[in-house]
Amino acid sequence: MKNIQIALDGPAGAGKSTIAKQLAAQLDYVYIDTGAMYRAITLAALEQNLNLEDGQALGELMKSLDLRLTPGDQGQRVFIGEREVTEAIRTNEVTNNVSFVARQAEVRTALVVAQRKLAERGGIVMDGRDIGTVVLPNAELKVFLTASVEERASRRHRENIARGMDSDLPSLQADIALRDKRDSERTVSPLKQAEDAIYLDTTEMNIDQVVTRLTELVEGVL
Ligand code: C5P
Repeated sequence: MKNIQIALDGPAGAGKSTIAKQLAAQLDYVYIDTGAMYRAITLAALEQNLNLEDGQALGELMKSLDLRLTPGDQGQRVFIGEREVTEAIRTNEVTNNVSFVARQAEVRTALVVAQRKLAERGGIVMDGRDIGTVVLPNAELKVFLTASVEERASRRHRENIARGMDSDLPSLQADIALRDKRDSERTVSPLKQAEDAIYLDTTEMNIDQVVTRLTELVEGVL
């Protein structure tokens, strides 16, 4: 079997990570969640009280951070040095600030280099916003996964409730719409469908149906 590169892009809450994780497990591929890398930098920048719009300071911060991703039972684990930050990067504070950090060219340039290195041997499912357009323009399979804002917010709401977390549907919807706007309108590598990506609207699909569809697409290129 060929070890291909699979690029999965789309807006916040479209189910990319759930789908990518399952697909990677099924193919015995490595799953890389690139959003976690932007989140980890954001967490460190917030902890150091840096100005999140200061690309140069963020660039310096990144040089000093030993950011590592390792596969775990529940998907990818994230470390800064010896400290595990897998959970800490999911707080609302990080979520609401990550788009500012992600639009700094210094941050993107360094992370794209790291992401290409992780993917160079193939056998990878990588999810993000610019994987098909910038990080892996030659990926054998590119999918742009989306769903309506209402559906994405409802999915997040159900997940939060299942985890016993407080959740407010209207504010989730507003946060998701705002993050999409910031990610799509930024100058550097905005969220955009690659011309050769397959568009998949999952508003009316469940997880199994999406994974089945992606498996068919993978079989088509293997
Ligand atoms: O995928 P996730 O929602 O965890 O991503 C968090 C944020 O990281 C996104 O809202 C976006 O600002 C940024 N991101 C990015 N490029 C990627 C992955 C994530 O700009 N490839």
